[in-house]
Amino acid sequence: MHTIVLATQKGGSGKSTLAIGLALAAKQAGFTVRLIETDPQGTLSNWQRRRNADDLVVEPIYHAADIEPRLKMLADSGLQLAIVDTAAGLSAATTVAIRNSDLCLIPARPSVADIEATASTLSVARAWKRPYSFVLNQTPIRGQRIDNAAGALAEEAALDLTEVLARPLIVMRNDHQDSLASGLAVSEFAPNGKSADEIRGLWRWIETRLELEATTNVLIDQVMSAADGMLHVAAEHAADETTTLAS
Ligand SMILES: Nc1ncnc2c1ncn2[C@@H]1O[C@H](COP(=O)(O)OP(=O)(O)OP(=O)(O)O)[C@@H](O)[C@H]1O
Ligand SMILES: [Mg+2]
Repeated sequence: MHTIVLATQKGGSGKSTLAIGLALAAKQAGFTVRLIETDPQGTLSNWQRRRNADDLVVEPIYHAADIEPRLKMLADSGLQLAIVDTAAGLSAATTVAIRNSDLCLIPARPSVADIEATASTLSVARAWKRPYSFVLNQTPIRGQRIDNAAGALAEEAALDLTEVLARPLIVMRNDHQDSLASGLAVSEFAPNGKSADEIRGLWRWIETRLELEATTNVLIDQVMSAADGMLHVAAEHAADETTTLAS
């Protein structure tokens, strides 16, 4: 199971909207998906109440201690994707969610305040060595503001932006607000619209990134076990030589 977490200290940056949009985009791409709500504000549960369908489960888990065991149970049950929405700020629940994630998505609007607010989330993801990406959300269609914001995020992470800025950027459009209000995801509300296109594109970017991380982990495991085997052989060899010398 892949677990992705949407987290940032800044309120209103689009964590819940993106969680819903990505959940539906992944579902439409063939994944089994569950939305996990760790934010007592209840944006996802309220959205689900407005939705006249039970095809996408929103599961509230507000206690930090319940998150890890529940994710393990969901993984054991064969679920393919858990998307965890978190509250603004940095709570115990958010830290646990990031610690258990395969990818931490940090949404930011193209404003200095939003970009500065990514720092604490970034430090948690780094402390637990979890992969992370920024998502620039609610951007204008074009303009200098976007380039400035992208540059500032790269500085914040001290990394090449192509690695850490998810694509495409998500433009500010009414479709996102109207779909949230009607209990739909943007790809259901206006399937042929630009916002739906962007969210589907963002899901494809995330999917590729998750696959890359999974492949890297498999390779690391293989290298570690090969190194382990070589050490074992070398140790046996050294023991043989000691026995020969002693006799
Ligand atoms: N790309 C977008 N275009 C237009 N409106 C957007 C976009 N993304 C989010 N919004 C709107 O911005 C508002 C805040 O979004 P959302 O609730 O998803 O943020 P949040 O980070 O989850 O907030 P909180 O920190 O309070 O949980 C909502 O009204 C949402 O519909
Ligand atoms: Mg929210």
